[in-house]
Amino acid sequence: MIIRRATAADAETLSALSRDTFVETFGHLYAAADLRDYLDASYAPARYAAQMDEQGCALWLMEDDGKAAGYVMAGPCKLPHADVQPGDMELMRLYVRRELQNGGHGARLFAQAMEWIAANGPKSCWLGVWSENIGAQRFYQRHGFGKVGEYLYEVGTARDLEFIFRRNMV
Ligand SMILES: CC(C)(COP(=O)(O)OP(=O)(O)OC[C@H]1O[C@@H](n2cnc3c(N)ncnc32)[C@H](O)[C@@H]1OP(=O)(O)O)[C@@H](O)C(=O)NCCC(=O)NCCS
Repeated sequence: MIIRRATAADAETLSALSRDTFVETFGHLYAAADLRDYLDASYAPARYAAQMDEQGCALWLMEDDGKAAGYVMAGPCKLPHADVQPGDMELMRLYVRRELQNGGHGARLFAQAMEWIAANGPKSCWLGVWSENIGAQRFYQRHGFGKVGEYLYEVGTARDLEFIFRRNMV
């Protein structure tokens, strides 16, 4: 299992992996049309390429014998919270394929992204996590994040309650 920084050439791989892992984790929550529209808009290869090239985001791929097994994404914070400062960063997505979860791989991906985030010198790192994703919340709390807010996240016509977590970096 290796972790490497993704490039625009990985956009198709990231798109396929992120669609699979989102559906695995959250697919049961949404109507089929909402899910399809959301995935097409947010997880398209062109979106990943643009996020890496233009929007200052960074992604890492975990590969199991060459097969995409997990990924993490980080970039400038876009969460709707009044205390977000210029230069603050966001841990945006962290996913490991279900059959590989609970083996420490998520923690390794997380550490890789946090190292990059810390090197960017933000005052705070932020993330959004679904209010009912208790396992992920426990994971983030163990790694120094705490809840500081809430917002509604749109997936098609659905509105999910998301918790905003923050970790101070200075
Ligand atoms: C969250 C996630 C990346 C952690 O990766 P991992 O390789 O399973 O994690 P590790 O083995 O390093 O650490 C295990 C911890 O992850 C969390 N976790 C385990 N399974 C989980 C699951 N199905 N969903 C969410 N979190 C989970 C738990 O906190 C667990 O620790 P515990 O012993 O307290 O239960 C991974 O479980 C995952 O991809 N989950 C589904 C996607 C997701 O919810 N991502 C977060 C979106 S904000």
